[in-house]
Amino acid sequence: MNRQIAESDFKPDMMVAIGTGGFIPARMLRNFLRIPIITVGIAYYDLNDTPAEKPIITQWLDKPESQIKGRRILLVDEVDDTRATIGFCLDELFKHQPEEVAVAVLHNKNKPKAHVMPAKVKHVFHGLELADDWICYPWDADNIEEQDRLRNQA
Ligand code: G4P
Ligand code: MG
Repeated sequence: MNRQIAESDFKPDMMVAIGTGGFIPARMLRNFLRIPIITVGIAYYDLNDTPAEKPIITQWLDKPESQIKGRRILLVDEVDDTRATIGFCLDELFKHQPEEVAVAVLHNKNKPKAHVMPAKVKHVFHGLELADDWICYPWDADNIEEQDRLRNQA
């Protein structure tokens, strides 16, 4: 994915990593992109753990007007699943007049999406296109050796 980004004409000046799945991928991309990472949090549960109808911002940029306006932002997450979270985040970012926003995810699941990718998003990078199966990421593991063993058996 870093090669796809490097070979594209999109030159981001910052990453926005969607927590928590986007944290580790953004940090790995930083080895190649060497640009700052800002983290945001979006949840579907309120403070009482009750499911919410709409996503709730649990963490956002400090001064979005000045941090987003005129910037070229790479929005990073681990997976484009229903796209509800990524779509919500894109809508929020576009409220503050970025120069451009691109999306980078490790995996895109081939399935119907809750949100159409806005036409303003000219670059979408993903490492792999996968079927709609559950992905066990290394950072999900309670026991990483066990997860490695299962993966090697598969
Ligand atoms: P999307 O915009 O990224 O498609 O998000 P969506 O709302 O559909 O995803 C709901 C949550 O499910 C997200 O986590 C997403 O990372 C997680 N998810 C979806 N598919 C998989 C999968 O195959 N494996 C794993 N491990 N997670 C998956 P979240 O609510 O943002 O929480 P967090 O885990 O990122 O903290
Ligand atoms: Mg996530």
